[in-house]
Amino acid sequence: MKVIVTGGAGFIGSALIRYLIKNTDCTVLNLDKLTYAGNPDNLKEVETSPRYSFIQCDICDSGKVAEIFRDFAPDSIMHLAAESHVDRSIDSPLEFVRTNVMGTANLLNCALNYYSMLPEEKKNKFRFQHISTDEVYGSLGKEGFFTETTPYDPKSPYSASKASSDHMVRAWGHTFKLPVLISNCSNNYGPYHFPEKLIPLIILNALDGKPLPIYGKGDNVRDWLYVEDHARALWLINRQGVPGETYNIGGNNERTNLEVVETCCAILDELRPKAESYSKQITFVADRPGHDLRYAIDSSKLQKELNWVPQTDFDTGLRETVKWYLENEWWWKPIREKNYSGERLGKGGK
Ligand code: NAD
Ligand code: DAU
Repeated sequence: MKVIVTGGAGFIGSALIRYLIKNTDCTVLNLDKLTYAGNPDNLKEVETSPRYSFIQCDICDSGKVAEIFRDFAPDSIMHLAAESHVDRSIDSPLEFVRTNVMGTANLLNCALNYYSMLPEEKKNKFRFQHISTDEVYGSLGKEGFFTETTPYDPKSPYSASKASSDHMVRAWGHTFKLPVLISNCSNNYGPYHFPEKLIPLIILNALDGKPLPIYGKGDNVRDWLYVEDHARALWLINRQGVPGETYNIGGNNERTNLEVVETCCAILDELRPKAESYSKQITFVADRPGHDLRYAIDSSKLQKELNWVPQTDFDTGLRETVKWYLENEWWWKPIREKNYSGERLGKGGK
C-alpha cells in the first residue's frame, strides 16, 4: 500500500510516518514544504528505510502536487500539512488562510483529478484523510464534551482556517464523491514537539532558567493525548473508517494549564534536581487574545466503532516526554539557537 503523508516533517506527521514504517508494510512518501515547523531530524529513525521517501513541496503548488500524485500513484493521502499554532495565527492570519484553506482545496482538487483516472479496483481502496482539530468546535464552559455533531464555532484565525478546510473536505466528498475521512483531535504532546507549544516550551525554558509563561490565570483546560496514540488512531481510521464519516479523537486527560506546568516542574525536580524547584520560575503573563477556555473530546464513536482506546495515560506520557527532552538535546538545541528561542508569540493588539 502506498501512502502520501502531507506535513510529515512536523510533530504529528513525523510520529505517523515513524508508526507506519515500524508497524505496517506501507511505502510512505512525505510531502512537506519544510516551514519553520518542518524538520527532517524528526524522521532520523526511519529515513534509511527503502519504504520512506521525501519530496519538498508546498501543498498550494498545484502543478507539483499533481505531478507527485501521478508519479507516486498513492492508495491514500493522509493530510496533516498546516500552519498549526494559534499564537502565530494571531500574528500572521493570512498564512493560515493560504496553507490551511487554499492548500487543502488545492490538494482536494489534485486528489479528485487523480482519483477520477483510477481503475475501479483502485478507486474502491482510495482514501483522502484529513487531519483536523477539536478547536473547530469552539470553546466549552465547565461542563460538556465535543461530539462529532457539535456545531462548528471556531474562534481564532487558526481554528477558523481548520474549520474551513474541514468544510472543503466534506464538500468534495459530498459533491464529487471523493472518499474522504475526517478526524478532529485534542491537544497532542510527546517527543519532537516544536518548542513553541506549551509543554516543550516549559521544559526547555525550565532547563534554561527562564520564566515559565502561563497565559492569564492558567485555568484554561486542554484534553491531552500522547502523539503515538493519535498516530495509531489515524491509521485505524484510514483502514477501517467509513468514507464520509468524522471521528473525534481525545485523550480523556483534561488538565488546566497550571496543572500541566506544575506537573512538568515536579518531574524535572525529580529527574534533574537543582537548589530551588523549577516551579519558582512560573510567571503569569498577559492572556492570549480570544483564549478558548476549555476543550474536551468525546471519542466514544471511535472507541465503539473502531475499538480504539488511548494506551498512554497523561502522567506516564508526560514523564516519558520530559525524559525524551532531557536525553535529546541534539534535537532541540539547534532549534532553540537558530529557529525559535522561546520568545512570546501572538500577543495581538496591533
Ligand atoms: P506542525 O506545525 O508540527 O507541522 C506542520 C507540518 O506541515 C510541518 O512539517 C510544515 O513544514 C508542514 N507545512 C506547513 N505548511 C505547508 C505547506 N504549505 N505545504 C506543505 N507542507 C506544509 O503541526 P502538527 O502539530 O504536527 O499538526 C499536524 C496536523 O494536525 C495539523 O493539520 C493540525 O491542525 C492538526 N492537529 C494538531 C494537533 C496538535 O495538538 N498539535 C491537534 C489536533 C490536530
Ligand atoms: O486542541 C488542539 C490544538 O492544540 C491543535 O489544533 C493545535 O495545532 C495545537 O497547537 C494546540 O493548540 P493550543 O493553542 O491549545 O496549544 P498551545 O501549546 O499553544 O497552548 C496550550 C495551552 O497553553 C493554551 O491554553 C495556551 C497555553 N499557553 C501556551 C503557551 C505557548 C500558555 O499558557 N503559555 C504559553 O507560553
